[in-house]
Amino acid sequence: MRRAIYPGSFDPVTNGHLDIIERSCKLFDEIIIGILVNPEKQPFFSIEERCDMLTQVLQEINRGSCDVRVDSFQGLLVNYAVAQHAHAIVRGIRAISDYEYELQMALMNRRLEPSIETVFMMSAETYTYVSSRLVKEVFQLGGVLDGLVPPLIEKRMKEKMNNREP
Ligand code: PNS
Repeated sequence: MRRAIYPGSFDPVTNGHLDIIERSCKLFDEIIIGILVNPEKQPFFSIEERCDMLTQVLQEINRGSCDVRVDSFQGLLVNYAVAQHAHAIVRGIRAISDYEYELQMALMNRRLEPSIETVFMMSAETYTYVSSRLVKEVFQLGGVLDGLVPPLIEKRMKEKMNNREP
């Protein structure tokens, strides 16, 4: 039984994240999507909204026999991974520019908790430029999000924008 944590902010989840989850499903029996609760950041979506959206869009991907669930965590990722009895942390790498930061984190996590391995997964070429930050920027400036996020996420972003205080 191999269990992995796929941690991140997922604000919002993109097609790039879902691609990494689908690929990880081929390697692990169980994946826990760990959404970081970061009190220092002002997110677009609350933790509850992100959990709910992720749970919904996960129904549409190919998970094979892998059990995928969504959770949130605070504090050190490795402490959370140990508490969940995970064997690995999955991180997606889009371009070489991601590598330096990811390597730093992976090595720090290894120093903190040598029993947990970090596994880097390469996203599909189609998503190498897709990030939650850019998705939000394009959306807020009126750009089209087709193919970047699932339709449900774009819909929720529009609803959120329309319900915002003026
Ligand atoms: O989607 P993101 O924002 O790139 O994810 C970053 C994340 C959540 C993986 C990273 O910030 C993290 O692990 N935070 C938890 C705190 C922690 O363990 N910090 C030390 C990392 S070496």
